[in-house]
Amino acid sequence: MSFIRKLFSTKPLKFYAQEEHNLRRCLTAMDLTMLGVGAIIGAGIFVLTGIAAATQAGPAIIFSYLLAGLACGFSALAYAELASSVGGCGSAYGYAYASLGEIIAWIIGWDLLLEYGMDGATVAIGWSGYVQDALRAIGVSLPQPLLTDPFHGGIMNLPAVMIIFLLAWVLCLGAKESARFNKLIVFVKLSVIALFIGIGLFNFEPANWKPFLPFGIKGIVNGAGLIFFAYIGFDAVSTAAEESIRPQRDIPIGIIASLLICTIIYVVFSALLTGMMYYPELNVPSPVASALIHLGYRFAAEIVAIGAVAGLTTVILVMLFGASRVFLAMSRDGLLPKAFMKLHERSQTPRRLIWVLASIMAINAGLLPIHQIADLVNIGTLAAFIVVGAGVIVLRYTKPNMPRTFRTPWCPTVPLLGIGLCLYLMLSLPAITWISFGIWTFIGFIIYFAYSRRNSVLGKELMAVTGSNSF
Ligand code: ALA
Repeated sequence: MSFIRKLFSTKPLKFYAQEEHNLRRCLTAMDLTMLGVGAIIGAGIFVLTGIAAATQAGPAIIFSYLLAGLACGFSALAYAELASSVGGCGSAYGYAYASLGEIIAWIIGWDLLLEYGMDGATVAIGWSGYVQDALRAIGVSLPQPLLTDPFHGGIMNLPAVMIIFLLAWVLCLGAKESARFNKLIVFVKLSVIALFIGIGLFNFEPANWKPFLPFGIKGIVNGAGLIFFAYIGFDAVSTAAEESIRPQRDIPIGIIASLLICTIIYVVFSALLTGMMYYPELNVPSPVASALIHLGYRFAAEIVAIGAVAGLTTVILVMLFGASRVFLAMSRDGLLPKAFMKLHERSQTPRRLIWVLASIMAINAGLLPIHQIADLVNIGTLAAFIVVGAGVIVLRYTKPNMPRTFRTPWCPTVPLLGIGLCLYLMLSLPAITWISFGIWTFIGFIIYFAYSRRNSVLGKELMAVTGSNSF
């Protein structure tokens, strides 16, 4: 078998079924939906809505949310199909391995490290900022060197490091325990959002919606590119496939329901925010609190900070959960060291992997100046969405008889629309993001050729069958 063909060899579906035996099946459709809501609603709604309305779309930000929701919806359908048919905890990595071959799978796994790891780290920095504000409000201030990374004259961002390790500890308790914790915090953030919506309904000023479309259609599209970040996270639900009690039915429910719930919340929320305060005034770090203070609801503005902290907490939790499951799948396949696939006997969680990933995330959040990398997270996620859309189309042709409990409607049109929209959003990202993404991918290739290709379980099997060691 030629070198190139081996790089693109796909993993047989029967391997996925054999692997699904050691994580604990304990999550219900409700747990999965709440994991999705936990991962999706975070910094985006509380910060980006105001900035995107003020600088890109005006009150038509509602349509930006609908457009980005539609792009994610196409991808969510593709995720739902592959999660219900291919399965496994590797999400886009595993689907790419089954459909497009090992090297693409590796790169997508490497991208997911970027999405989950970097997203978790930046959100932890945001979390630290909110907590510092809250502590200051009650007269407590921590020494400055413990709040700032060494690149900005400090020692480390200690609160960011602490929240990551605290959530790693929660994840080590077990999947069900983590899901319970997540549900509790999601309840807090949804209550705060409900409070905001209640106030917004009584303070909506139609004059603030004039003009409704100050930046034209282009503004809507640019706004969608910016607030795409607010939707990131629904895909993490698919990494819980091996811990779901009824994965074929419940993973599609979890992905689609969480995306739908969040899209409705985002549209209502942005409609009210722009109706409460004239859009040019929303270009501030905390637009939601500003709108409430502007209307005289000072106490509610403080409650919003609690909602934001809750929102950010579950984003970090689910990102760490997702990263550990994708890496578990990669270790099983031999692309990462096998030592990582060991599960803790009682909790049946990959504890070793969780602590390793939490440490990497904590180094990024605590020691590196990575505040401005949301675009890098977006590009990695968009690449994964494109590969999942392509995976659906390829598998429909290469494995037409594979059992599919959920089928993407109007295939290949819907996955193609998803791929097209994601590509469009990717191309709208700045050159520096593409360069950073290129460097990240290059490092991924070096690791693949230096380690993963030689240790690949599939590669070894192919070698045994073909008797060739050219792989
Ligand atoms: N969607 C997540 C957020 O808005 C990443 O924070």
